[in-house]
Amino acid sequence: MSRPKISVIGAGNVGATTALMLAQLELGDVVLVDILEGMPQGKALDMMEMNPVYGYDVSITGTNSYEETANSDVVVITSGIPRKPGMSRDDLIATNTEIVKQVTENVARRSPNAILILVTNPLDAMVYIAHKVSGFPRERVMGMAGVLDAARFRSFIGMELGVSVENIHAFVLGGHGDDMVPLARATTVAGVPITELIPADRIESIIQRTRQGGGEIVALLKTGSAFYAPAVSAVEMVDAILRDKKKILPCCVLAQGEYGVDNTFVGLPVILGSKGVEKIFEIKLTKKESEELQLSAAHVKELCDHIEKMSGK
Ligand code: APR
Repeated sequence: MSRPKISVIGAGNVGATTALMLAQLELGDVVLVDILEGMPQGKALDMMEMNPVYGYDVSITGTNSYEETANSDVVVITSGIPRKPGMSRDDLIATNTEIVKQVTENVARRSPNAILILVTNPLDAMVYIAHKVSGFPRERVMGMAGVLDAARFRSFIGMELGVSVENIHAFVLGGHGDDMVPLARATTVAGVPITELIPADRIESIIQRTRQGGGEIVALLKTGSAFYAPAVSAVEMVDAILRDKKKILPCCVLAQGEYGVDNTFVGLPVILGSKGVEKIFEIKLTKKESEELQLSAAHVKELCDHIEKMSGK
């Protein structure tokens, strides 16, 4: 029996770190693709040369072509450009839409049974594009954002209370960033809701910090955006899929009536297993939570409509 095959498209900060972490967990053979000549090959060879020290028995291949990605079980798409000075948001959206379109076409044709995990921003809209271009069922096209948002939320709660992050479970819904809808009442420390442990004003400021978590890191790094936590979040999703964990993780998925959201990509808790999104895990929301989620879903829909208009359809 051969090892699972995982392709990572984009060998930049997020992609290379994802490939490294996948290899470290020996989750499968990794194919790292980028348009820059020599770069994915160099990074992959460097990682292969780590194997003897750690004792990993996986292969990591770097390439500029898609041939090596054929018959992947999972494909993580991180290719794209970050926003640069002087560039409008529309320029960024237009560029990343084209990149994700082209990448998805190349990947889907060669790996028709793969599960796609999108990481490129603006995340929710890029999942919409990949779903549309691949023609894959919603179970096999999802986005990584909620795991990262929840991880940030959990780390800030851990810092606040001085307890192990392992005891903290966070529940987040909605789009990435400002649109995130964290459910404080369903976020627990050793099973106890944080609303019983942290004063309301402190919870609010932790939520604000979480929403702006990406921006906080961009402001510090100056030359790029976060990549360690985004990479490990994508890896957690790959792990849940390849090891059929049935783990409940917040992912960007196509809602088809769940949580009162229809035909829109938005972050929801899902059961992730070998078939991909096996089920959307639904709980009853309060009126306020539901309104916030609807607003977040409406923003994603607006952005997707805008992309359709920009591409002249
Ligand atoms: N095909 C393959 N790779 C591509 C393509 C393409 N068509 N276009 C760009 N790339 C590659 C770039 O060459 C670069 O190596 O994507 C890589 C992106 O890497 P970085 O610039 O380091 O960006 P990174 O920090 O990894 O972020 C990637 O993830 O978290 C999101 O917002 C982030 O959208 C961004 C993405």
